[in-house]
Formats: sequence, structure tokens, C-alpha cells
Amino acid sequence: MKRLLIGLCCGAVLVAVLAHAERPAGITSAMVPDYIVTCPRAATDATRCTVDDGTYRGWQIYSTHCAECHGAGARGTGDTPGLIGSLNGTVDYDGVHYVIMHGHRGDNGIMPKLRDDPHVVPNIDRLYQYLKALAEGALPPGTPNKAAPPRSSPPLRRAP
Ligand code: HEC
Repeated sequence: MKRLLIGLCCGAVLVAVLAHAERPAGITSAMVPDYIVTCPRAATDATRCTVDDGTYRGWQIYSTHCAECHGAGARGTGDTPGLIGSLNGTVDYDGVHYVIMHGHRGDNGIMPKLRDDPHVVPNIDRLYQYLKALAEGALPPGTPNKAAPPRSSPPLRRAP
């Protein structure tokens, strides 16, 4: 019995240490840029909305690497639940990072780990930005437009 207790204790500590080690060094959700979404009033589809570069990249990666399971606009598909409720509830920035790196066994199925995917891993922040914009209702599902780069200022006129 004593041995079992020791096993339990140290297993838990080890898991905690591992989980900590997997977090991106020193990065927290507070450092992830907030999404910028501009939609016409009462837009029901993201095609009418414009988003910043990071959120747009997040949408691209989501569409090619996550939507097949979690559905367009993270609304769920088949047996796999969407992610809106998760991002509004139990899953924070660290949670998204952890699930992507390690995979996840949920009640509805198993998500494969994507840590070896060179497109997904460098874009976790942008995925989070996009998912947050969806979860907070700022961005409807659909294809957003990328904000145009700021116009350079007009050339100065020469004095006559
Ligand atoms: C092959 C299918 C598949 C792909 C691809 C996939 N997922 Fe998952 N994901 C799942 C399944 C299945 C679960 C577990 C759902 C459950 O049972 O609640 C899950 C769970 C999650 C969770 C945890 C949700 C929660 O409430 O606990 C997050 C976050 C998540 N996925 C994000 C992503 C992101 C971001 C991507 C793309 C980079 C992605 N997933 C790609 C199948 C997938």
C-alpha cells in the first residue's frame, strides 16, 4: 500500500513537470496579439469581415489542419465536437498548445498529436487568435478577408 502511494505521488509530480516543460517558454496568452476583426453590422458570414494578418493565418491553418475534424468555423462535424465551447470554458492558451503537441483522448474520440507538423506548430499563436475571435463571437464562420497592408504615405510635393 505504501509503495502504491509513493507511486501515485511521484507519478503526479512527474506529469506536472512534463506538462510545465511543454509550455512555450515564458509565453502566455497575454502576449498573443489580440485579434482585430471588422465586420459590417449584423454580418452572418465571415466573408464580409476583415481580419488582421495573424488571425487570417490562423484561419488558413485551421482550415487545412483542423476543420476536417472540428468543422468549418470550429462548429463541429460528425462525432467531433466544435471548439467554441471549449475556448469559452475549460481550454485556455496553454490547453490549446498542449493538445496540439500531445494529442487528446476525449469522450468523443482521439485527436492525434500534431507536434511534428511544420505548418501547425509555428502557428499555434495564430490558431489561438482565430479560435478566440470565433469563440468570442467577433468572427462568424466562413472565409474572412485579410486586411490590406497600410498605405504608404503619399510622396511629398517638391516646393516650386
Ligand atoms: C483527426 C481529427 C482531428 C484533427 C485533425 C484535429 N482534432 Fe482536435 N480533437 C479531435 C478529437 C476527436 C478531440 C476530442 C474531442 C472530445 O472527445 O471531446 C479533439 C480535441 C481537441 C481540443 C480539446 C477540446 C476540449 O474541450 O477538451 C482542442 C483544443 C483541439 N482538439 C484543437 C484542435 C486544433 C487547433 C486542431 C488543428 C491544429 C485540431 N484540433 C485538429 C480530433 C481532431
